[in-house]
Amino acid sequence: KECVGSSIGVIAKALKQQLVIPDWTAFCKTMEEIFEQVRPAHAGSVATYIPQLARTDPGYWAMSICTVDGQRKSFGDALQPFCLQSVSKPFTYAMVHSELGADELHSYVGQEPSGRLFNDICLDHDKKPHNPLINAGAIIVASLVMRHATLSDRFDYALQQFKKFGSSTGNIGFNNSVFLSERETADRNYALSYYMREHKCFPPNTNLQDTLDLYFQLCSIETNSDNLAVMAATLANGGVNPMNGERVINNRACRDTLSLMYSCGMYDWSGQFAFRVGLPAKSGVSGDLIIVVPNVMGICLYSPRLDSLETVFKRFISHYQRNTVRGVKFA
Ligand code: DON
Repeated sequence: KECVGSSIGVIAKALKQQLVIPDWTAFCKTMEEIFEQVRPAHAGSVATYIPQLARTDPGYWAMSICTVDGQRKSFGDALQPFCLQSVSKPFTYAMVHSELGADELHSYVGQEPSGRLFNDICLDHDKKPHNPLINAGAIIVASLVMRHATLSDRFDYALQQFKKFGSSTGNIGFNNSVFLSERETADRNYALSYYMREHKCFPPNTNLQDTLDLYFQLCSIETNSDNLAVMAATLANGGVNPMNGERVINNRACRDTLSLMYSCGMYDWSGQFAFRVGLPAKSGVSGDLIIVVPNVMGICLYSPRLDSLETVFKRFISHYQRNTVRGVKFA
């Protein structure tokens, strides 16, 4: 589904500069072939520990691409809304990093892969969460979002910032059913938060319920594959939105976000993903996945059946290793 707006943007830019992917038509044809090839690999199962997620149609399958010069293409159910879940974490980290700076932010959370499950109750040797992309670290980062403001102002601010990463016509909202469903069943995150409070991980005077509510709200921000690819492309483009040229986060925040996505973004599969794919990525339990090709593009995949995307990537990479994708040379 070509977006008319971005097509006009692409044409305008093509007149002025060499496109990042010169043979765009051929590239899209290759990507569509791969998209169709791996569709049968649609194995895996829908997450059930958040009851509302268990009700998702497992058959959705989408892929969207956005280049750093605004070339966009989507396949399949690319306008089907889904909540970000953990894919919200790199954007929340980037937002807080841009606000507080690396030194203050990382006085609360480390930069090491934990090697453990995303929601394991564990801290590093400094009694801090290993990194900001596992639940422990993301809950701490949520406690730092505009921490002196009211809870409603904090979420409004975060949602506005998230919108800046995407397309101006992109659909981004909030799924209250998922928020309520998660808040009612999040024993693990409550236990994790009390454990972290015991070890004084939070900023002083942190209200634990407000922090968890904000964390669940951030995970319940809703968008679609088409818009999330633009959000990923903003990370690929050094923090500048490729659709309007606006800077959303500073360079250092963007660099640090991509570094952590590369080393920690796929949790206890991060090492395998870095070894087999070698690109910054972030998965979400709703079935969304973003991959960033720095200085080239952002990619979003959406399949509610979890772990089906592992197969997708193995197919993707074996295809790239066999051929240079027409128009784009992948390392
Ligand atoms: O806190 C949780 O468990 C969910 N809100 C997010 C977990 C998630 O997306 C795991 N990533 N694949």
